[in-house]
Amino acid sequence: MIHIKLKQAILLFLTVGTLQAHAQKATTISVNTDKIITEIQPTMWGLFFEDINFGADGGLYAELVKNRSFEFDNPLMGWKEFQSERFSVRNSSGRIMIINRGSSYSNPRFARVSVFKDKGYGLNNEGFKGMGIKQGNTYHFSVSANPIEGNPVMRLELVDPKGQVIGSASVKPEGKGWNTYTASIKATSTEAKATLQIWFDGTGVIDIDMVSLFPSDTWKNRPNGLRADLVQKLADMKPGFLRFPGGCIVEGRDLDNRYQWKKTVGKVEDREMIINRWNTEFAHRPAPDYFQSFGLGFFEYFLLSEDIGAEPLPILSCGLACQFNTAEVVPMDEIEPYIQDALDLVEFANGEVTTKWGKLRADMGHPAPFNMKYIGVGNEQWGPQYIERYKVFAKAIKEKYPDMIIISGTGPFPEGELFDYAKKELKDLDAEIIDEHYYNKPEWFFKNASRYDNYDRKGPKVFAGEYAAQSVATVSPENKNNWECALSEAAFMTGLERNAEVVHMCSYAPLFAHAEGWQWTPDLIWFDNLASYATPNYYVQKLFANYKGTHLLAATSGNEKLAGKDGLYASSVWDKNSSEVILKIVNATGKVQQTVWKVEGNKKLGKSAAIISLTGPQLTSVNEIGGPETIAPVESSTTVKSKSVALTLQPNSFTVVRIKTQ
Ligand code: AHR
Repeated sequence: MIHIKLKQAILLFLTVGTLQAHAQKATTISVNTDKIITEIQPTMWGLFFEDINFGADGGLYAELVKNRSFEFDNPLMGWKEFQSERFSVRNSSGRIMIINRGSSYSNPRFARVSVFKDKGYGLNNEGFKGMGIKQGNTYHFSVSANPIEGNPVMRLELVDPKGQVIGSASVKPEGKGWNTYTASIKATSTEAKATLQIWFDGTGVIDIDMVSLFPSDTWKNRPNGLRADLVQKLADMKPGFLRFPGGCIVEGRDLDNRYQWKKTVGKVEDREMIINRWNTEFAHRPAPDYFQSFGLGFFEYFLLSEDIGAEPLPILSCGLACQFNTAEVVPMDEIEPYIQDALDLVEFANGEVTTKWGKLRADMGHPAPFNMKYIGVGNEQWGPQYIERYKVFAKAIKEKYPDMIIISGTGPFPEGELFDYAKKELKDLDAEIIDEHYYNKPEWFFKNASRYDNYDRKGPKVFAGEYAAQSVATVSPENKNNWECALSEAAFMTGLERNAEVVHMCSYAPLFAHAEGWQWTPDLIWFDNLASYATPNYYVQKLFANYKGTHLLAATSGNEKLAGKDGLYASSVWDKNSSEVILKIVNATGKVQQTVWKVEGNKKLGKSAAIISLTGPQLTSVNEIGGPETIAPVESSTTVKSKSVALTLQPNSFTVVRIKTQ
C-alpha cells in the first residue's frame, strides 16, 4: 500500500515538474551588439515643467510668503491683521491700507501700515498651505520698506499652529525712501504649517512691499532659489531636456493671460504678477489663491536646465489662447510682437552681452550664453489658425536663426481629425519635431507600444511631449499614480525607445503636484511643505533616462519585436560611454516569466549582469508621502554564461539589465 502511494507521489511530482517545466519554457530574447540601428538622441528622455498644482509658487520656487507684494486680486489674500485692541474703526492698535500706484508700475501696490499702539499691531502671512520650517535651518527674511513717520521696528516670528514661536528676529527700517531690509531667523523646531508673524513695535507709519522669506538651503544655496529636494529629484533623472513653462499656461485662458517671458526676467520685484490659469480651471479643485509671481522666470528656468544638464526647451505663445477656453487669436496682421518675443528670446539665451537681451542675461549674472537649441511654437493648439501662425513663426525664426530647432504641436489628442490634419500639414511644411500628447487609460499605452513602428522615417521627428496613463479618465480627480499606470508607461516607452529613429524627445506630464494644492492628477513627483516623494511613474522615467544608452539595438524573440506578445515588451541599447549593453523588459502578465537574454556580436561580455527591477504588490499600489516606498527599484546581479543571462521576470514587473563589455 505504502509502496503504491509512494509511486503515485513520485508520478505526481514528475508530472507537475514536467508541466511546470513546460509552463516555464524560457522565452529567448536576442540582441546583436554589432547591429546598430540608429543613435539615441541625448534628448530622448526629458522633463516637462508647468506651473500647475502649485508646481512653481508654493512648490519648486522656495519663497514661503504668499502674495508677498500685495498684487493678488484681493490684495490681502494670505494676510491677516492682528490687533491687541480694536474698539472701533477709528480706535484700534493699527491699520493697513493698500496703495495702488497705477498701471505704469509692474508691481503697483504696496501696504501702508499705521501703528497707533506699541506692540499692539501685527500682520500674519499664512504661506502656501502653511510654511514648511525645519529645525536648525536658517530662513532669510527681506522686506522693501519706506518709513513715513516714527520708526516702528518689525519684530518677526515663525509661529506653529498652536501659537508657539519657533524662531524670531527683527528688522529696523530707518531713514527716508524705499530700502531693502533683511534678517535671518533660525528655526527651533520642525513644522509643516508654520506662519510668519510680523509685529510692528513702537508707533508710526511705514510702507512695506516684497515681504519675503526663503530657506537658506535652497538648491545651490542661491538667493531667490529653488527647493533643493525637488531639484535633486530632477537632477537624479539625468534629463536630456527641460521643457518650460508648460503646458496650457503658455497659451493662457485668453491672450492677456498668456505667458510672456519678458515679464519674468530682470529684477524680481519688477516682474508683473498675473493670475494662474489653473486658479479657476476645475470647479472640483478651485485654487483662488493661485497666482504667478514669476520669481521663477525664464532666467531661472535656463539656469535650472544648465544645473541639471538638460537642454532648455522654452515653449512660447503663438498668438492663440487655450482652445479649451476662449480660443482668442491675435489677428495675423498684429502677430509681429509675438514673433519678436521669440526672436528676442534667442538673443536673451544666446546673444552677445553687447546685445539688448544678451546684456540683460549678463546683468542677471550669466554672461555666458545658455546655448539654447530648441524653441517651441505654441503648446497644444489645433486647426488652420495654428498652422497659419506656426508658418510665420517658423519662417522668421529660421531666417534669423537657421540652426534653431523648432517644435510644433499636433493638438491635445494622439489620433482623430485634429491630429491627422496637423500631422499632414506639418509634414508638408517640413516641420522638424512635432509634439504629440497622450493622456489615456493604461490599456491604450500597452496597445500603442507599436505606435511608431510604421511612422515615416523621413518625416518630422516626434516629441512625445506630454503623456501619462490615467487610471480613471483624463482630468478625473480620482486618477492615481498607481503601478498599473507606471507599468503601462514602461511598456509604451520600450516602443518609444525601439523607434528612436523617429522619436527624439519624450516627457511625462505634469511634473509636480502639491499634495494639498493640486488641480490635476496623476503627476510625476508629489510634495508637501517639507517633503517630496517619487511615484512609480517617476522611477520608470528615471530608469529609462539613466540607462538611455547611445545607440539603438534590436531586441527580438524569434526574429519578432517584443511589443505585447505573451505580455512581454522589450527594447535594447548600447551605451558607448559606459560600454554597456542594456535591456529593458516589461512583463505585463500576472505570472512569473522565464526568459533568456542572448547577446550576440563581437563584443566580449563581462561575467555578471546588473539587474534593476521595479514591481508593486498590486497593480493598484501607490507610493505615499511619508509612507514606505512600496514601489522602488531593487538591485541585484546574475551571471553571464555563454553570452546569455537567465532572467526570471516577476509578475507585472519592469526590469533593466546591464552587461559591461570589455
Ligand atoms: O499637463 C496638463 C495639461 O495637459 C497641459 O497644460 C496641457 O498642455 C495638457 O492639456
